[in-house]
Amino acid sequence: MLVTLNEILKETREKKYAVGAFNATDYLLGEAVIKAAEEANVPVIMMVPTPAFKVKQTPYLMQFILDRARKASVPVCMHLDHGKDFDIVMQAIHYGCSSVMFDGSLLPIEENLEKTKEIVKIAHACGVSVEAEIGHVPGSKNQPATGAPDESMYTDPEDAVMFVKETGVDALAVSIGTVHGAFVGEPKLDFDRLKKIREMVDVPLVLHGGSGLPEEDFRKCIELGISKINFFTELATAVSRAAYGVMKEKEGNIMWPDVSPTAEQAGIDAVKEQFRIFNTQPLHLN
Ligand code: 13P
Repeated sequence: MLVTLNEILKETREKKYAVGAFNATDYLLGEAVIKAAEEANVPVIMMVPTPAFKVKQTPYLMQFILDRARKASVPVCMHLDHGKDFDIVMQAIHYGCSSVMFDGSLLPIEENLEKTKEIVKIAHACGVSVEAEIGHVPGSKNQPATGAPDESMYTDPEDAVMFVKETGVDALAVSIGTVHGAFVGEPKLDFDRLKKIREMVDVPLVLHGGSGLPEEDFRKCIELGISKINFFTELATAVSRAAYGVMKEKEGNIMWPDVSPTAEQAGIDAVKEQFRIFNTQPLHLN
């Protein structure tokens, strides 16, 4: 069942769980994510990353995910991840995404606000939810070896309040010390900041850069009000390692159909493990 971000995050705060959001960069990952959700009987967010729009096959991948989401036995939200410009966001809506992220986090705040506002107006008219980001979650390539990213990128709680009020976004991605990609060093999340933002902001909060965080950090983030957790690097690595393991065993004398079931199963297992950690609960929508 295809649902919006608003619908899928509806019970997260009350029941103290988060919904996992996984990047479906290709068919195998997309299938693994949906299968995992169906087997665990929990809702899931299938994220389509922006680079997927740059290839000729985009409509086919979108069509596959959309079809799979509609037929799934659990609620599935099809969400554009990190849409950085107006055209990509509009294309995602056109292809059937039930939710989009507009990422203006590197723009001056006024520009981020104006662009987000315009997108919210159009997306809401189409029945599509919008996530935006204030502060910036950097890539791990820009992360200092000490672990924590530069605090100047963290979300300012006052800015977050103003941004949500002015734009009318449905969910807000916050920067509290996570990074996209493999974490360097020990994560040191700013839980006090998260608590403050949660107390001041009413919409569901999103944690990007889930890979590399220990289980207790996820639990604490959920306890403090995170509703959606983006997770990709560890999932993609688990799938690749499983495929490599099979190939290595046969010294490369192998065909893809002998590899893909193992790779898919590794994806299913990795996603299910995150459901357990995120305490994701079944969701029944009418
Ligand atoms: P990781 O790859 O660090 O898990 O982050 C994923 C993400 O936040 C996608 O938006």
